Amino acid sequence: MRSAEQGARSTISETLPPLSTALWRHHHVLDLDDFSREEIELVMDIADAMAEVLQREVKRVPTLRGKTVVTMFYEPSTRTRASFELAAKNLSADTVSLDATRSSVTKGESLLDTLLTIQALGADIIVMRHQHSGAPYIAARHINASIINAGDGWHAHPSQALLDIYTIRKHLGGLVGRKIAIIGDIMHSRVARSNMWGMTTMGAKVVLCGPPTLLPPGLKEFIARYRQGQVEVETELEKAIRDADVVMPLRLQTERQQSGLLPSLREYVQLYQINKPRLSLARPHALVMHPGPMNEGIEISPEVARGAQSVIEEQVTNGVAVRMALLYLVARGRNE
Ligand code: CP
Repeated sequence: MRSAEQGARSTISETLPPLSTALWRHHHVLDLDDFSREEIELVMDIADAMAEVLQREVKRVPTLRGKTVVTMFYEPSTRTRASFELAAKNLSADTVSLDATRSSVTKGESLLDTLLTIQALGADIIVMRHQHSGAPYIAARHINASIINAGDGWHAHPSQALLDIYTIRKHLGGLVGRKIAIIGDIMHSRVARSNMWGMTTMGAKVVLCGPPTLLPPGLKEFIARYRQGQVEVETELEKAIRDADVVMPLRLQTERQQSGLLPSLREYVQLYQINKPRLSLARPHALVMHPGPMNEGIEISPEVARGAQSVIEEQVTNGVAVRMALLYLVARGRNE
């Protein structure tokens, strides 16, 4: 039987515990290249408080009541869009979901006009996914609403990287000294780029591994300039996985690839698929992660995707708490 206290806890009027947000300084969240370790820790701590809300019978707090969150997606999405929308509703924000393929964009309306229209309708926060790298940066320059980048072209996907870091932290206690192997289509992966910034800021060593044709040109020079000693580039899968604490295969982004980057899918599977024998090279406790969507049987074998070391579904679950934390912090920042 539920006690009166439990009954009271399940009402919408229950609020969050006191959370210090003094460190927060972001009006927008565009990527993790300008996040300090302390700021990422702050997101993690607030995500812990949000995860506690999600354990309650009524998974809702009034924290963002009166705020309007608009999701604006110019590209398909399952996880990011659904979890941002759930996150906003769990915080009692008013939500509007704009599918660009069914909006006035199809009548020729520009990105800027669409953004200004949404702002004129009262949006406080716009969660935006766009096929062109840099589109959220243009938005952030021109409007007062806060922009959260939900993925721009090949460039960045900061909320995905934060939920990946959160998931690793929950299982391994932290990222300091951990070896994280990100494998596959590095060139077209905004997840790899944002994770490279965020995970190294948190003290991990990141190994980016893929066929030479799927590594971005200039990657080694970029690392030498910005992340010397913290990021390695590898083309041999076995070397990348050996003693890794985290193994993260990526989907081949055929929608972004020019033809001719791979000799054949069969050869890719032979050389780069994460299967059980290859996973055995990693540390025994190694986590298998994937940002999704997965192509099982290509970058990852079904038995690894659903095996005991896989935390892929948990990543999706954690995405709601992490995105609640981001919406909370951005909204708090707007009030101060
Ligand atoms: N990881 C990710 O961005 O998934 P969706 O495309 O389904 O949002």
